[in-house]
Amino acid sequence: MSVLVTGGAGYIGSHTAVELLDSGFDVVVVDNLCNSNRESLRRVEALTGKKLTFIEGDICDANWLDQVFASHNIDSVIHFAALKAVGESVSRPIDYYHNNVSGTLALLAAMNKAGVSKLVFSSSATVYGSSAKVPYREDQATGGTTNPYGSSKLIIENMLLDCAKANPALSVAMLRYFNPIGAHESGLIGEDPQGIPNNLMPFIAQVAVGKRSQLSVFGGDYNTPDGTCLRDYLHVVDLAVGHVQALDWVANNQGAKPFNLGTGNGTSVLEMIAAFEAASGVKIPYEIVPRREGDLEGFWADSRLAEQELGWKAKLSLERMMIDTWRWQHGNPNGYLPS
Ligand code: NAD
Ligand code: UFG
Repeated sequence: MSVLVTGGAGYIGSHTAVELLDSGFDVVVVDNLCNSNRESLRRVEALTGKKLTFIEGDICDANWLDQVFASHNIDSVIHFAALKAVGESVSRPIDYYHNNVSGTLALLAAMNKAGVSKLVFSSSATVYGSSAKVPYREDQATGGTTNPYGSSKLIIENMLLDCAKANPALSVAMLRYFNPIGAHESGLIGEDPQGIPNNLMPFIAQVAVGKRSQLSVFGGDYNTPDGTCLRDYLHVVDLAVGHVQALDWVANNQGAKPFNLGTGNGTSVLEMIAAFEAASGVKIPYEIVPRREGDLEGFWADSRLAEQELGWKAKLSLERMMIDTWRWQHGNPNGYLPS
């Protein structure tokens, strides 16, 4: 069985490629490397002892995508390729809508031509918007997204629902990720943000290796037990395993359906710092600064639907997330670039 993985050289894609190869799938990765490094895939091959096919290119290029489908016998697609920086999306909306929405349209058209009808899509908890109640459930309304990145994910979900209505053969699992962190336990692959990290976990990890002097904690006056925001952090390997299970779901179901992938626990920023310090033995200097615009106070997942229908449940602890993050960052202080 061959799986086309768009964006497979990236953070979540590379971890998913490992789980796919370990589960016996043939893997074809397409990626334009706009936010990743070819080295991640070499390491995927090294740690699984298996080969994958890598084709460099842009999913917005419809003719090229047609050739990819024509020259490989693809059974299903996992679609990670997207631009994902929330702040950047506010200043570059055209790029974000073009890459994420038009790229997905091109992919859907190519799948249609090639007769491929099974798709797993990377969505996000951000589609619930600011008025949803915690824990988020899939039957709650979506909408009220506050930036072009989040809106692009919501537009794509709606496109996929429309396409599945029009084509009863289509089967799509829309996986709404909460906050993926951590790295493969080998320490060979992990998150490698370009420039200053936007997200909490890679920022903490870069402070720990001395690449940043201190962490700014965005807001200490939220209505939470310690005043800092709560998020549902899940291990990237648990998330990767969820994609393999979602492939099984799309093979046996029709229609487009959203699934939350999270642990169900809300952890504060200060608790994250303490957990990292305990796992690494490294002190993280921090300062509480004003709130970051657009941040929600706290959200976490109700993932019972994924448990019932995909047979998926997050297994790895917060301590494991921290130990694995530290092993990756300590062993690769410059990510995939040579030290
Ligand atoms: P990432 O940037 O590490 O990976 C995305 C990959 O897609 C990169 O390798 C990039 O080079 C590639 N790509 C982007 N545009 C492309 C294009 N037009 N053609 C070909 N390749 C292209 O990001 P990630 O964290 O692994 O995220 C994967 C997916 O999960 C994204 O769709 C993202 O929006 C979604 N998601 C991520 C998070 C998170 O916190 N990491 C949370 C929710 C959802
Ligand atoms: N935070 C800090 N300092 C930092 C970075 C983050 O205090 O330097 C705080 C944030 O204010 C927030 C928490 O840490 O309270 C988590 O922030 P992240 O940026 O790591 O994650 P978000 O929840 O803001 O957003 C992430 C992804 C989005 C996705 C969302 C839901 O970046 O793309 O999870 O899945 F939409």
